[in-house]
Amino acid sequence: MTSENRTSLAVILAAGEGTRMKSALPKVLHPIAGLPMIAHVVRAVRAAGVDSVAIVVGRGADEVRAAAAPFAPGAETFVQAERLGTAHAALAAREAIARGYDDVIIAFGDTPLLSPKAINDARHALLRGPAVAVMGFHTDQPQGYGRLIVDRGELVAIREDRDCSADERLITFCNGGVMAIKGKHALSLLEAIDNRNAKHEYYLTDIVQIARDRYLPVVATNAAHDDVLGINNRAELAGAEAIWQAHARREMMLSGVTMQAPETVHLSWDTAIGADTVIEPNVVFGRGVTVGRNVTIRAFSHLEKCRVGDGAEIGPYARLRPDADIGTGAKVGNFVEIKKATLGPGAKVNHLTYIGDADIGARANVGAGTITCNYDGYNKHRTVIGEGAFIGSNSALVAPVSIGKNAYVASGSVVTTDVGEDALAVGRSRQVNKDGLAKRLRDRFAAEKAAKAKGR
Ligand code: UD1
Ligand code: MG
Repeated sequence: MTSENRTSLAVILAAGEGTRMKSALPKVLHPIAGLPMIAHVVRAVRAAGVDSVAIVVGRGADEVRAAAAPFAPGAETFVQAERLGTAHAALAAREAIARGYDDVIIAFGDTPLLSPKAINDARHALLRGPAVAVMGFHTDQPQGYGRLIVDRGELVAIREDRDCSADERLITFCNGGVMAIKGKHALSLLEAIDNRNAKHEYYLTDIVQIARDRYLPVVATNAAHDDVLGINNRAELAGAEAIWQAHARREMMLSGVTMQAPETVHLSWDTAIGADTVIEPNVVFGRGVTVGRNVTIRAFSHLEKCRVGDGAEIGPYARLRPDADIGTGAKVGNFVEIKKATLGPGAKVNHLTYIGDADIGARANVGAGTITCNYDGYNKHRTVIGEGAFIGSNSALVAPVSIGKNAYVASGSVVTTDVGEDALAVGRSRQVNKDGLAKRLRDRFAAEKAAKAKGR
């Protein structure tokens, strides 16, 4: 029999207080790469091919449920009303475990880098006979983790950090948090756990000794440290973020994206970038960004929930806000902000401009300092600019307003009424030149200054 045809349930523990985070936000909702930790764990469990998912929630139950839901449709949630420890939390999902699965996998909501491989290694280990497989890992910084006590090659116990003797504290083989348990033993083993320890908590880790007392074999697998990082405080959160980012950047470069200074580029969990795109230093990708092929994203640009078409050029110092849709070969230059707007193919918005709630046609050219005045203090209104239109510098387009195809707007115009196709709109006072007046003014001012100096 292989793991694939065994039925499986994953129980994800996410009820903890997260005291060490010192946060109003429940620990498992703190994000890595813009996605709450709990959602990372749910994705890993799903990718490992687990059939059913049960999430144990407590603090911030509704928010935790909502964060997990998009990634685990049909997942059950169980409320652990009192936080009495990880074994107590696992038993909150008693009803699901009791349904009877071949494998029960217990994972923690605070290990966001958990890989599907590490989960499957623990599951596969069960095929060789053991009743319990513990996902172990080696680290030179074991502080805070439960230590795996191995005797003559056999895992005999897990000792929590605070319950360790001085010698045990030196052990560097640790509990990564994931356990695979044969379903037929799971409930009875979990129910046998008591709370006689330093914290008076029901420790899931006691399952090892209990299984051995029943002559049920137990094994430890060996996962990569990065895969199992447990997050208990914000320094560890930042550490996990750094590992996630380094990994994602590498994957992206291997898929054909150039990054000139990769360590300065910040990605989100769902950033998608096409081949032959070049990312200059210090670019931030918020959530929901899709970038095409052959794009150049120049230094210090900030993008979120937007799409950039093939061959476009963005930045330096550009800001693409939610629902910016940049067409093929379009250009967005320095100090330009674009929000909820489409830019047609080949359109150019090159300098110091705000475009919000707008549709800009193909090849239109929007001059420096143009502002779409989209907000009247109560409602947002749209600006439509036709294909090939030319908006002179320093124009204010007061929405709702539309500029026709191939129209011209003279520089410095305040446009409040629609402009027709091929028309020229001049929305400013006419220039007046007065010959010789500058000289006359200068002479007068100089005389006034001289008279003042004499009087002193
Ligand atoms: C736990 C393990 C430790 C392991 C480490 C790996 C135990 C007793 N200890 O320690 O051996 O090395 O994880 O990261 O299992 N939770 C609940 N309800 C509770 C308590 C905890 O749902 O009553 C959840 C938390 O939300 C968290 C997870 O269980 O997601 C782990 O709890 P945490 O307090 O972080 O345990 P650690 O001290 O990290
Ligand atoms: Mg933890």
